[in-house]
Amino acid sequence: MTAEARPGPAVRAAISPRAGLLVEHAASIATLAGGLRRGASQGDAAVLVGQDLAVAAWEGQIVACGSAADVRRALEGEGRPLAAFERVDARGGLVTPGLVDAHTHLVFAGTREAEWQLRMRGAGYLEILAAGGGILSTVAATRAATADELAAGARRRLDEMLANGTTTAEAKSGYGLDTATELRLLEVLGRLDREGPIELVPTFLGAHAVPAELRGRPDATDAYVAIVVGEQIPAVARQGIARFCDVFCEAGVFDPGQTRRILEAARTAGMALRIHADELAPSGGAELAAESGCLSADHLASPSDEGIAAMAHAADTGHPVVATLLPATTWFLGKHHFAPARRFIDAAVPVALATDQNPGTSPTIALPLVMSVACLELGLTAAEALAGVTINAAWSLGLGDRIGSIEPGKQADMVVWDVPALEQIPYWLGSNRASVVIKRGAVALARD
Ligand code: NIG
Ligand code: FE
Repeated sequence: MTAEARPGPAVRAAISPRAGLLVEHAASIATLAGGLRRGASQGDAAVLVGQDLAVAAWEGQIVACGSAADVRRALEGEGRPLAAFERVDARGGLVTPGLVDAHTHLVFAGTREAEWQLRMRGAGYLEILAAGGGILSTVAATRAATADELAAGARRRLDEMLANGTTTAEAKSGYGLDTATELRLLEVLGRLDREGPIELVPTFLGAHAVPAELRGRPDATDAYVAIVVGEQIPAVARQGIARFCDVFCEAGVFDPGQTRRILEAARTAGMALRIHADELAPSGGAELAAESGCLSADHLASPSDEGIAAMAHAADTGHPVVATLLPATTWFLGKHHFAPARRFIDAAVPVALATDQNPGTSPTIALPLVMSVACLELGLTAAEALAGVTINAAWSLGLGDRIGSIEPGKQADMVVWDVPALEQIPYWLGSNRASVVIKRGAVALARD
């Protein structure tokens, strides 16, 4: 375990002084209008192409989108003078919704490059965890860090995320594994969310691993589940910051029975549900996610046939569980067995993509890179991947009616890209083509 380098220069939100914002001179707008994508619609990014396209926002909400002439006419019709609009020149580029990162472990201390190098020489991820490393080494560093130190590390990563087009991110606790530290992590997330500009969706992940202090006991996992249910969930509910509860449901970590107990308690306490499911081996996670009404089942590199069928049935009966796939994690673990994304799409299960940003299995902050890996290793088209980091990610967080697409009435979260077509976002592998990032109708970041 080593420390991170000092925090980098911060990028701060520039609050727009005007009530309106007008993005002009775009060559294409991938609107993602039309709701949750699944099956054939996963690849329909609802793209407008034209000579001179525009999007107008008023007081943080999108009010018009289309040809420049139509948008101006709409604004005149509503009596909104152009002088009230800050103008953003898209310079013939592409406009998309702000990207939504639906799975991150944003707040932690320390780094784990030594463990990563051990894995390159053949050590297994769960083997390192069982020996007291992995998640547990980040837990030790995180418990020893102050809230200010944790916030500073997370702030640096948030600034990089924003620069890469992310405007909303889910963010988990889970490196405390005791009540006081779990609450501190959620407190830090609440603070970072208030500071903006990235909007955070905090998730309680007390059941990320069994803490070191219980591991000597024969009933260690059940004993810790009892603490999560009896002590942590009530305290987290009283604190009122976490919107979701998550569990690492995996053979050797928390089994489906233990996961179900935690999810039931969290639901009763008012939290929405998502789980880490079938990351390394089929363990009944996808089935459990469908049965317990999770909004999302994440990872899914090794789901069973029954699990895919259960998620397909849930989607067909109006209770979709989004399959949030994390291909950068599989890649960074050095594995070659990726999530069966095409099977999910063929089964009409909605697919989202996320970074899984964490110090062990996926240090990346960049959704454009995740899109590239999804195209290369999951076989997604660029349009399918874009739906995965916008509208479907928004639905996985229960926010699909407010963010994730460019449509009148939605929150004005947008990215102007210095490329003419959406395929070029993942095509420029490892480079960042986001040029203007807009959050709630204000320019949060602009590059020359
Ligand atoms: O999603 N798999 C469990 N949790 C994280 C990894 C956390 C860690 O290794 O620190 C994940 O990959
Ligand atoms: Fe994760």
